[in-house]
Formats: sequence, structure tokens, C-alpha cells
Amino acid sequence: MVKIQWYPGHMEKARREMTERLKAVDMIIELRDARIPQASKNPMLMEMAQNKPRLIVLSKIDKADPQATEEWIRYFKEQENVSCLALDLMNDAKCGKKIIAEALKVMKPKRDKQIAKGIHPRAVRAMACGIPNVGKSTMINRINGKNTVKAADKPGVTRSLTWIHADPDLDLLDTPGVLWPRFDDEMTGSLLAAVGSINDDILDKKMLAMDAIHVIQDNYPGLLEGIYDAGTVNPNGMLKAIAVKRQFKLGEDKLDVKRAAESFLTDLRHGKFGRISLEKADNEKDHETVSQ
Ligand code: G4P
Repeated sequence: MVKIQWYPGHMEKARREMTERLKAVDMIIELRDARIPQASKNPMLMEMAQNKPRLIVLSKIDKADPQATEEWIRYFKEQENVSCLALDLMNDAKCGKKIIAEALKVMKPKRDKQIAKGIHPRAVRAMACGIPNVGKSTMINRINGKNTVKAADKPGVTRSLTWIHADPDLDLLDTPGVLWPRFDDEMTGSLLAAVGSINDDILDKKMLAMDAIHVIQDNYPGLLEGIYDAGTVNPNGMLKAIAVKRQFKLGEDKLDVKRAAESFLTDLRHGKFGRISLEKADNEKDHETVSQ
């Protein structure tokens, strides 16, 4: 398995600024990638946010397995008691309104108390957080109906913390995409890189691709074998099958496995294998049962 650590200095600076600014915030809107809802959870955020109300938004559901997403929504609501919305931020024109409505629902108990005391509640102040490339800019632009924030499919593009008056009822604090200093396990780093949330310029693409192939073979038996005309093969064999199918060669008869790995990762990130999820809520529940 590929061992990854990526916590550049600007992320630590952002973490300090976020902790500082949290005092002025009513709630957290935490974006996670619907394909990896657990690996894209930032454990530092839980520490920083303490008991602030939270809303989890699962982004990119158009690339995730619909059934797996349903199960994750249920998991967050039932097991973690947290509100959760799953959205296609790119194509769902109504997603901004859905997020505002859900954020107001999360804050309703507090706002009702203010109304009972004769105080007119001000706009909810929410901090929008998430790992790099998860869709924060796209979400903010959806909420305020403008292209205020630049969206880019490149992880680690630095941004400062900025208040955006997104809606009369919701002010959003935009934050840079941050990761955390040490991943719980090696698979977390690998999954984050597989969906494109870690700058993979310096990573071993072959190892990365083999980790992802292994997960897909477990979750969707036969899927890759069918696409690449491969028999029953291990992840390394699958890379060779991809090189054969795509005719990636080094010279006359040596397969270009590195190019096969790059092509596989590009296809995975662009959703070329259909709607698939790399993490399932069931596995999470099993993991919890075992570790209890
Ligand atoms: P960030 O601020 O958290 O870093 O993320 P950002 O909004 O910049 O989004 C990163 C990429 O993900 C963008 O791709 C954006 O269009 C895409 N994206 C965001 N939300 C969704 C979603 O719900 N579904 C899908 N399919 N894509 C989403 P890009 O470079 O602008 O274009 P692309 O080549 O990735 O399509």
C-alpha cells in the first residue's frame, strides 16, 4: 500500500486561522466526497469545532454509487446523529436552496429560543470546510448564485478565509481545503489521492492505482475485469491488462504499466467506470463492531 503524508505549511496556517475564526461561527458545513465519506472526514475539524452544530454535505453524488450514498446518509443520521445532504453540486440547480434550508433547520432550536425572547435572529454564520477539491467553491457559488469563488480541479490551491454574504439568511466563511498531519491508516491517504484531493505529482501512481483497483475489485467484483477484458487478476495483473487493452507499450514488447496506472487514475477521477463508491457504510459499521 502507498504511504502518503501531505500537510504543507499553508494548511497548518489555515488550521490556526480556522480555529481562531470559529468563535464567530454558529455552525459548520462540512463537505465530504460521496465516494469516500469516511476518508474525506477531517478529524482535526471535530477537535476544532467542539460542540458546534454540523451539517455534512456529500458532494459529487453524480460520481458515487446511489445505493452506497443512501446508506451513508442513513449512517450519519442514525449512527452519528448529524444532518446530512447528498448533492450533485455541478448539475442540481436547486442545491444552494437545499443547503440553506437544511442549515436553517440545524439552527432552528437556537433561533426559536431567540424568537421566544423577542430577539430577531440574524443570518446564520456557517463555516464551509472540507478537504482540497471536494467542491467548496462550487457549493458557495451555488448558494449565492454567483461565481464569486473560483472552482479548480487542482488540490492545494491556496485561499484565504473570507466571509461571503451568500443569502439573507446565511453568511458563509469560505476556508481553504485542508488535510491533517497524519492519516489514521495508509488506505485513507490512498483514497484521498485516488479521488484527486492530494497533489499526486510526487506520488507513486502505480502503487496508488493498485490500491484503488484492489478496493474496486472488492466492492464491485467483475467491473474492471469486464471493462479491460481481464481474467481473474491481482491489481498488478489488472494494470498489465489495461496496458494491453490500451496498447501502452515501451518499445516492441514491454508493457508501459506506469502509463496504464495514470490512465486508470484519470478514468477513475472522471467517473469513467460508472457511479462507484470506494467506501461503504456497511464496512464502517463492521469496523465499529470489531473495535468495540
Ligand atoms: P474546492 O473549492 O473544494 O477545492 O473544490 P471546487 O469547487 O474547486 O471543485 C473541484 C472540482 O470538482 C471542480 O472541477 C468542480 O467543478 C468539481 N465538482 C464540484 N462539485 C461537484 C459535484 O457535485 N459533481 C461533480 N461531478 N463535480 C463537482 P473542475 O476542474 O472545475 O472541472 P472537472 O474537470 O473536474 O469537471
